Order: sequence, then C-alpha cells, then structure tokens
Amino acid sequence: MNGVKLEGDDGTPIAVPLSERVHWVGAFDPNLRIFDIILKTANGTSYNAYVIRGSDGVAVIDTVKEGFAGDFFARLESVAAYSEIKVIVLNHLEPDHTGALPELMRRAPQAQLFISQKAQTMLKGLLKQDTLSFTPVVTGDSVSLGDRSLEFLHTPYLHWPDTQCTYAPEEKMLFSGDVFGCHFCDKRLFNDSVGDFRFSFEYYYAHIMRPFKEYVVRALELIEPLPLTLIAPTHGPILRDRPQHYIQRYRQLSSPALHNELSPNQKTLLIFYISSYGNTRRMAEAIYQGAMQVEDVRVSLYDLEGGEVGPFVDLIEEADGLVLGTPTINGDAVKPIWDLLSSLAVVNLKNKLGGVFGSYGWTGEGVRLVEDRLRGLKLRVPIPGLRVKLIPTDDEILECTAFGLELAQELTGARLSKVINFADLA
Ligand code: FEO
Repeated sequence: MNGVKLEGDDGTPIAVPLSERVHWVGAFDPNLRIFDIILKTANGTSYNAYVIRGSDGVAVIDTVKEGFAGDFFARLESVAAYSEIKVIVLNHLEPDHTGALPELMRRAPQAQLFISQKAQTMLKGLLKQDTLSFTPVVTGDSVSLGDRSLEFLHTPYLHWPDTQCTYAPEEKMLFSGDVFGCHFCDKRLFNDSVGDFRFSFEYYYAHIMRPFKEYVVRALELIEPLPLTLIAPTHGPILRDRPQHYIQRYRQLSSPALHNELSPNQKTLLIFYISSYGNTRRMAEAIYQGAMQVEDVRVSLYDLEGGEVGPFVDLIEEADGLVLGTPTINGDAVKPIWDLLSSLAVVNLKNKLGGVFGSYGWTGEGVRLVEDRLRGLKLRVPIPGLRVKLIPTDDEILECTAFGLELAQELTGARLSKVINFADLA
C-alpha cells in the first residue's frame, strides 16, 4: 500500500515513520459519517497523533478519540517505552484528541503535560481532576528533548480558544492540530499517496476555520516563516508534498476578496428581501433609494426568491451592513429569511450593522424575531425594525427612504449629527 506499513506481521498496529525520529501513532475511523453533529464525511476520518524521539527523551503530541485508544497505544508501544515519555503536548483539547490522555498519563506518570494558556480551565473540565500537573505555554516557549526540541505557537480559535501548534525545528515539521486538517480517511496516510482529498480540505476549512478568519491570518504570520518538510495535522493526510501549498491556500481562503474593489473609505450595505404581495418589496426599494443617497456606501438590493444562499453568504461575510426584509406569515418571518440566517453560522458577523423591515397583515412579529436573531448573531442593530401594515402609504414609503438613509449614515458615521427632514426625501 504505497509503502505504508500499518501493522506488524502478527496484525498488531505499528507506528509509521515520518522521519528517523518522528512517527505517526494515530488511528483510522473509516465508518464515521457525521463529525460533531454538523460535519459530513464521505469516507470517515483519522485521529493523528505523533511521537518524536530526542536524545534526552520522547514526546507524544496529541492522542486519539477514546474508542480508538487501543490502536494508539499499540503504535506508541512499537516505538517507545512509557518510561521514556518525558513530554506530552496537547495542541487541542477536543475529545477526539484527548480521549486517550487519562490512560496515557496513568501509563506515563512522569511525563510533563504542555498545553496552551487558554487550555488550562478546559483541561480541568475535561478530565475532572483538580490535582493535574501541567505547563501552560505561549509563542516563544519551547521544551528540549536533547537533540530535538519543540517550539510552541499560540494560535487560538483554530477552532477552539485553546488551540496551538507545535514546531519541531530540527525536523522542520509542524504539528498543526486541526489546522490544515480534514476529515478524510485513507490508510496511505501521506498527501502524495492518498486519493483526491481537495474537496474535503476545502469543506473542512469552510466549516471549521472560516468563522475565525482573522485568527487564521494571525496564525499564518507565525507559520509562514517556518522552514517546513511537512505539516502533520490531527485529521486527514500528512502533508509532506508541497506543504507550503496548503499554507498558501489558507492564506487565499482567509483573505478578503472584496477589499481590492473598494476605495479605502467605502462601505458596503446589502439589502435582502422576500415579498409575498409586493409590499415588502416596495419597502425594500425605498430603503435602497434612501441608502444610495449616502456617498461612500455601495448599496446592493437582492430578492431572495431569485438567488442561491451560498454566494450570498460570501457577500455578507465581507459586507459592512446587512438589512433584511420579511413579511410576517403565521406569526413568523418567512423560511427564506431563516434559511439565509442559519447559513451565516460559518461566518463572523460580529459588529456588522443590522437592520430589519417588513410588511404585515395582522400582528407583524416577523421583524422583531429577525431583529432578535441579528442581535444574537452579534450584529449591532441601532435602529428599531421598520414595520408597515399591508400596503405602504406615501408617508410610509418616505419613512422607508429615511430608514435606508439612516442605516447608510450609520455605516459612514454621519448619522450622529444628522436630523432628517422628511420633506427633503420626497
Ligand atoms: Fe479534531 Fe477540534 O477536534
């Protein structure tokens, strides 16, 4: 199988060398189809863990999900005795990487545990032990194994607050945790041997890392200067062929595409609506006209009836403001609005401007419900939602125009000092 020997002659799992001193001691989970409730995987995943041997001791980097501990310990035992383990590094505390930790600590009680600063409280919560001994580390900290060493990189929110990466400078290897990983189970193990996993790499980024793009960018500042022979993530193929390619791809995926199209002071405001009898559409068009009166705001108007949600999510991610228009039907906003909102879980919306409007027949709860949801998503909603009963009157259309104007002014900072004269808008 392309030279990767996973088991000894008696069928016992054995470690796979990445170099003379570094081994993979992970496990395969080919039957997994859903990870963490939301992530699909068409052919399972792997839980990658690693062992590095120095002249002065052995380090274990990450472990595996609890049910796969048997393979992990068998592989570990094929390259190291428990008494040799001096260091255990946890790059990330999610249970798929810490499931075997309690048993590993029992077998190697002399080992010192290294975790990120932010992992401290999580570790206690996870292991339910108050007497744990560990060393919290940050960027610049390192631990010596004699002729090999490990350097720690503080890379939080990729994708939990605790996440870090560990670099072995003498091997030029990066143990990256979930970063650069994917749920792809292939026993050929290395990226130059496995099947085509590009879709899985992109899918994993889109669902796991994308909401934390700003942290991806900060992590790349630490990772890009490193000389690398390979990247060893905790899921999916080990990236020994062109590791820099995957770093560049993360850079592309985390860089704003819209940025280059706008002048430095220009803001973007997106208005989405759906309308059953044309009333919410009339409101949307008036809001659009009002917003367009503000210089330096690029305003776009979209009818959700005519668009796919996916591309809209990309637009919203880079926009400064989001305005949603919905009728109220059966006491609720309508499904296309909720569909759009639920798809925004993969992007960071914090502090974007939000606004809501809509026509209603009886009670008009839809606008309030969507406002609440926008606030829940951490948008700021400084102007109360605008509701019109059934067909907007001429005055109500003027109110819509003013609503759009104010939202756009809020984006540019002009709203504070401005008093709107409705007569000016007619
Ligand atoms: Fe692979 Fe975030 O755990």
